[in-house]
Amino acid sequence: MIYATKITGTGSAYPAKRVTNGDLTKRLAELDVQTSDKWIQARTGIQERRYSDLSNPKESNASLAATAAMRALEMAGKTALDVDQIIVATCSPETNLPSIACFVQRDIGAVNSWAMDINAACSGFVYGLVTASQFINTDQIRTALVIGSEVLHPYLNWYDRSSCILFGDAAGAAVIEQVPVNNESKILNWYLSSDGRYANHLHIPACCPQDGDDDSCQEKNHETGHIVMNGREIFKLAVRRLTKMALTVTDKEGLSIKDLDWLVPHQANQRILEAVAQRLEIPIEKVLVNLDRFGNTSSATIPTVLDEAVRQGRIKSGQTLLLDAFGAGFTYGAMLVRW
Ligand SMILES: CC(C)(COP(=O)(O)OP(=O)(O)OC[C@H]1O[C@@H](n2cnc3c(N)ncnc32)[C@H](O)[C@@H]1OP(=O)(O)O)[C@@H](O)C(=O)NCCC(=O)NCCS
Repeated sequence: MIYATKITGTGSAYPAKRVTNGDLTKRLAELDVQTSDKWIQARTGIQERRYSDLSNPKESNASLAATAAMRALEMAGKTALDVDQIIVATCSPETNLPSIACFVQRDIGAVNSWAMDINAACSGFVYGLVTASQFINTDQIRTALVIGSEVLHPYLNWYDRSSCILFGDAAGAAVIEQVPVNNESKILNWYLSSDGRYANHLHIPACCPQDGDDDSCQEKNHETGHIVMNGREIFKLAVRRLTKMALTVTDKEGLSIKDLDWLVPHQANQRILEAVAQRLEIPIEKVLVNLDRFGNTSSATIPTVLDEAVRQGRIKSGQTLLLDAFGAGFTYGAMLVRW
């Protein structure tokens, strides 16, 4: 291989509406579902999240994705015309077809690109980076936009207090470009896997045409069209697999955990991040976190927390980052990056 891939720009976009734990507690109390700011903070670390205004076209999944993409292009010093490929990772598209990626292509004017969505749930951004980088490394394309974008709150089951408190809406993007393989700054290594045996631990039962001509299928029960989650099992699996992947991918590159400057994990629960950091013996200060302010935004967590740290100047040239994700499926993805 004579080419490698480098992340040259990042961007993010959030809906305006902040929903604090207090707001959520009041909303759930109206449904006779009990929770509290204290419980949510203590058990998850989340303080607030954002919800899109579904009547505002600027806050649709595709629009958030396009805004994040434009910000990433600006940082990379590129225009939409330079983009060869757009991959949007999402599990909450507003249309079954076309893909969100095609809307992004239209909205930013990336007329020279081809576009598609992928669904690997919360691991989607890492899956997208790996996929796009294969086209770059084999010289099929030079520049790609990889986006993780979600408007998840319409899929929440307000009667399930263990899951509805966790998720929020956001989009994050990265521009990735071809560099010579001996470039210092590049994607160093990656690891992907999935395990469909755990599919039922986290799923959204579809409201299918096969269910019959029923406009009110969401009212048949609270599960149809809404997130169904086995939180306790996911917690255990997540800690185990995030730890194992971190060791696997650093080992593949001949590095050790001590060589990492930043752990960039999927943002699901502060206690998961702490347990992984403890097992890996990484100081918690090296773990990037934004879930306190945005909750779990699925495929958008890694690109948004990355973008935040890049713009704050915390991530510096030459540093080594480990992206580490898990999600429904289960899907797992880790990537080692030299910035
Ligand atoms: C969901 C999760 C926050 C629950 O936290 P937990 O500490 O495991 O809590 P448990 O499920 O053991 O429940 C403990 C008690 O808290 C209650 N509880 C659950 N949600 C609550 C809420 N929002 N407010 C108040 N009490 C709540 C439970 O009903 C249970 O009560 P009980 O003991 O009377 O039965 C946690 O398991 C988690 O984050 N799991 C991973 C989920 C995830 O990451 N999903 C996305 C994957 S990409």
